[in-house]
Amino acid sequence: MTIRIAIACCAGLLAASVAVAASTAQTPATNPLAGKAEAIDGGKNIYRGRCGVCHGIDAKGYRGSDLTSGDWVHGGSDAQLFKTIQSGVTGTEMPGNGNMSNDEIWMVIAYLRTLAAPGGAAPERGDAGRGEQLFWAKDQGNCGQCHMVRDRGGRLGPNLTRVGAARSVSALEREIRKPAEVIPVGFETVSVATRDGKTIRGLRKNEDTFSVQIMTGSEDILSFMKSDVKDVTAEPERSLMPAYGPERLSEAEVTDIVRYLRTLRGR
Ligand code: HEC
Ligand code: HEC
Repeated sequence: MTIRIAIACCAGLLAASVAVAASTAQTPATNPLAGKAEAIDGGKNIYRGRCGVCHGIDAKGYRGSDLTSGDWVHGGSDAQLFKTIQSGVTGTEMPGNGNMSNDEIWMVIAYLRTLAAPGGAAPERGDAGRGEQLFWAKDQGNCGQCHMVRDRGGRLGPNLTRVGAARSVSALEREIRKPAEVIPVGFETVSVATRDGKTIRGLRKNEDTFSVQIMTGSEDILSFMKSDVKDVTAEPERSLMPAYGPERLSEAEVTDIVRYLRTLRGR
């Protein structure tokens, strides 16, 4: 049994390394279509059709990262961008694009290069140290009540340990001011109406034919048998994260917190 697993594993590894070797042999290190007007035009169309939904039509980041800042987490050389776009980023929402031809990928890269901020990434504003304080302070952001960073914090909201790699400055600002605008998968709010007349709101964690599990605002996991439930209603326009208006966090405070979040790029 052990031996069989070992063989299966090594055969897999071998196949993977052959595939990698083959694809790097075919992929030039620099973009053969760089600067060509037609390629840039074509790349713009492909970008709008396949990428804009996550990275924003202006590529400044929405659910995905800012592709104009020049501040690349996964590498900004032509070859590195090619690989990220072709294979995606495992464990994130960034999908692989195995069905794009090499030329199509190079066209998109040619287009992205035209968006790059001249002079490279602009320095980000704000004070990360102060942002970190505001994030954890109970009488200020109190973000840690619901969010985990490394192994500290609450579990209601998404773990933010590498949110700085995944989200742009504008997306993070929007999340603090208007959390309901984009709700990550797995954090949808639902309300459960029971047959005995109660309504309980929480995040849908699991649902099958017979039961539904939700996490309430106080992090209790409640499980309901479907036979006891009248209705499970999705509430896509509602977040369990409070919207932080200017009366709670000033512009400068939001800028500091976002600066702190942008430093979170751990595993
Ligand atoms: C479903 C949403 C989604 C789509 C569609 C999508 N991306 Fe992404 N992309 C992301 C997310 C999220 C990340 C951040 C990954 C991480 O956490 O490291 C990302 C990361 C990237 C990166 C790496 C950025 C860096 O800092 O290194 C590049 C380059 C990129 N995407 C290009 C594209 C291109 C080009 C397309 C279209 C062909 C595309 N993406 C389509 C969500 C998406
Ligand atoms: C009462 C719990 C709660 C508090 C307090 C809270 N959040 Fe959230 N947060 C959530 C939940 C739930 C979600 C997922 C739903 C959504 O996106 O609105 C979320 C989502 C997020 C996201 C999006 C993560 C992603 O992967 O895109 C960010 C960023 C975030 N919160 C930052 C903050 C910051 C910064 C603060 C403090 C200023 C804060 N949160 C306070 C519960 C909370």
